[in-house]
Amino acid sequence: MADSSLPPPPPPPAPPVGQPADHVPPPPSADSRIETPLVGVYGVTKAFGDVVAVSDVSFTVGPGITALLGPNGAGKSTLFRMLCGLAAPSQGTVQILGKDARRDTAVRGRIGLVPQQDALFDRLSAQAFVEVAAITHGLDRPRERAAEVLGVVDLDPGERKPVGAYSKGMRQRVKLAAALVNDPDVIIADEPLNGLDPVQRKRMIALFRELGESGKCVLVSSHVLDEVARLGSDILVIAQGRLAATGNFHDLRALMDDRPHRIHIATNDPRALGAELLRRAIADGVRVIEDGVEFDTTDIEAFGLAIAPVARELDVHLNGLVPLDDDLESVFRYLVER
Ligand SMILES: Nc1ncnc2c1ncn2[C@@H]1O[C@H](COP(=O)(O)OP(=O)(O)OP(=O)(O)O)[C@@H](O)[C@H]1O
Ligand SMILES: [Mg+2]
Repeated sequence: MADSSLPPPPPPPAPPVGQPADHVPPPPSADSRIETPLVGVYGVTKAFGDVVAVSDVSFTVGPGITALLGPNGAGKSTLFRMLCGLAAPSQGTVQILGKDARRDTAVRGRIGLVPQQDALFDRLSAQAFVEVAAITHGLDRPRERAAEVLGVVDLDPGERKPVGAYSKGMRQRVKLAAALVNDPDVIIADEPLNGLDPVQRKRMIALFRELGESGKCVLVSSHVLDEVARLGSDILVIAQGRLAATGNFHDLRALMDDRPHRIHIATNDPRALGAELLRRAIADGVRVIEDGVEFDTTDIEAFGLAIAPVARELDVHLNGLVPLDDDLESVFRYLVER
């Protein structure tokens, strides 16, 4: 569950040097009855030189699946790296369970990261790879724990084949097993569905659902709208480093349907058709070009109903109809510029 409506609390003061991070007071809540969110991002900006990768982003996330949707270079991985304490914000505060993951080693142990990179120790078996993760976390009985989480992701702990020989989907599951080894409360998965075939994707989504239903916070990033629709989760849309929209898939669909559409119609009489679309207030603006007419409309439904009767009435031919901005990039652009 994501909520971007909460007022961002001021960042907590830095602890005195040498003092344990436990002494960092939590951000004051406007309402003390509100539980500490599992993930809290308050006014966070991250710049790399002149590049602002994340710009003044605030949201909180509770248990269940939340998707972070955004095009390439939107700032998803940068945001996730800050959540895990792997990178420091240039401005603002990031908290996991009310604590700063960069300062609090205990809270780092409650986060599981599935990194975007496909860099595994290719020569190790899945069991050995996950065992290394268990040992890194200082867990008791790392062998048993590794076998257990491999079972959770549907992999055979007895498989001796090196992970280098695994399919993309199996490798994603090995990474997820390693992220689950410490039984984290917050699971951060960076493009875990990338490169999976439909069957593998379905299994991975079912797994995320189970984790979400068990009360964990599961944050999953993606640049594919269709993937996010299948997750059935709350969605945070990030574009150009900014939080562009939040809501469930239906809220976003409605937002997208409200945006102006640019359409090209090839016709033998662009002038007559353009003038009539303007007269009927179906088009907001018309450009007559060589073989047709280009125009913007905010009411795609009215346009769809009217175009064929209008053409018949004017006795003009419709030789082709192409939406010019139906790609996801233009949807993101619209959400950011809104
Ligand atoms: N270490 C870095 N140094 C300089 N620029 C960086 C660094 N990391 C990220 N960036 C820049 O910050 C922006 C956001 O990158 P980021 O990797 O967070 O995006 P993303 O949404 O994860 O993209 P993708 O979908 O391609 O994984 C990009 O412009 C990227 O080039
Ligand atoms: Mg990324």
